[in-house]
Amino acid sequence: MDFNIDSWLNLVIRWFHVMAGILWIGTSFFFIWLDNVLQPLPEGGKGHVGKAWLFHGGGFYQVEKSIQAPASILASLHWFKWEAYLTWLSGFALLIVVYWWRADLYMVNPAVAQLSKAQAIGVGLGALVVGWLVYDGLWRWLAERNPKVALVLSLLLYVGTAYALTQLLSGRAAFVTSGAMLGTIMAANVAMVIMPNQRKMYAAATAGGEADPRLSYQAKRRSTHNNYLTLPVIFMMISNHFSMTWGHAMNWLILVVMFGVGIGVDHYINCRDKGRKGAGYVALAAALAGLLAMVWFTATPAPAPPAAGTATTSGAAATPVSFAAVQGIITARCIECHSAHPTSKLFPIAPNGMKFDTPAEIQQAAAKIKLMAIDTQAMPLGNLTHMTAEQRATLAAWLGQGASIPAKE
Ligand code: HEC
Repeated sequence: MDFNIDSWLNLVIRWFHVMAGILWIGTSFFFIWLDNVLQPLPEGGKGHVGKAWLFHGGGFYQVEKSIQAPASILASLHWFKWEAYLTWLSGFALLIVVYWWRADLYMVNPAVAQLSKAQAIGVGLGALVVGWLVYDGLWRWLAERNPKVALVLSLLLYVGTAYALTQLLSGRAAFVTSGAMLGTIMAANVAMVIMPNQRKMYAAATAGGEADPRLSYQAKRRSTHNNYLTLPVIFMMISNHFSMTWGHAMNWLILVVMFGVGIGVDHYINCRDKGRKGAGYVALAAALAGLLAMVWFTATPAPAPPAAGTATTSGAAATPVSFAAVQGIITARCIECHSAHPTSKLFPIAPNGMKFDTPAEIQQAAAKIKLMAIDTQAMPLGNLTHMTAEQRATLAAWLGQGASIPAKE
């Protein structure tokens, strides 16, 4: 029996993570929407922010927001934190199971940077910890003095981080680590700012006193940041299944644009709820432009740095490469995993159903082989099978000459 514990852990934790994430993100969008539609009432008392009337599931709801609470409601108060914590915990578990466990395969790409397994995990963990410390420190320092500067600095720091990650880790690991870093910031916002501030507000209400309104503003600011980060994070996480994004030679730029597109769509939603249609459409147009730019950009891949000894296009044309040579290379370097009967202990089933047993299968996958073994050098995975630069050059030349295979007898 083939019992694949890695894959089952991956599937079950992923399922849980997506469920928890949906709950968290749904809550985030619901409350941001609520804040955007609240209407202040003239008769609202001290701490009154506004009221909204909702209709759902066959009933009318009246919701009133206040930053002060009468002691009478405290006993039946609902807090919202577990959806955030469980999303983060399951995401972190998934990061370990899928990436850190076999960091040598999934986080290191020798063509990007020659890191050891421990170094790659160090980069991944460092991004989560340092990302939060820098973000939190920046906003504690500047939020009240100059929030605009804090915002610009945060965005610039993100661009720098996206660039650094893609220069150190394999493309996929860089995208996922970037998403995990933003997700960590979101969960830490809940654990380290929103919840502590709310506990202080709660304590003030219990004592029959008044909460400092600044506690509410700080919590609201972090909660708004979280809302703006949700869509970029989801985009980054699912982009992992699409090698045209992380596999691109300028993948850092794609990552940054993806971040911007997510924020743009989020801003459109929030502007629309506030009745600021004009600003909303500008944000939406910018997001769509970003999306189109990515599509266009990935359609014209920038050339990867040539491996030592790579044949030039003209050289390639001069010396036709025989398919026998190509099949020899693929058999030596790829078939271990990409076969109907893989010999690899790690991958008893051909990964992504990608098999190179016959000339037709190889030819059919030519474009993907070019992307994975030539442009990004993401394959062979972790270069476990020790593919040489000369072999990549031969493969590239064959692809450049039209990837032809001998006609059937
Ligand atoms: C040690 C095992 C291993 C070896 C050797 C290996 N691969 Fe892969 N390959 C994988 C795995 C695992 C995946 C799936 C990655 C993922 O999770 O998407 C994959 C995926 C692919 C894909 C699919 C990408 C997609 O978009 O679906 C291509 C193409 C590919 N490999 C080409 C190659 C080529 C060409 C070679 C030889 C030069 C090679 N691989 C050698 C393990 C291997």
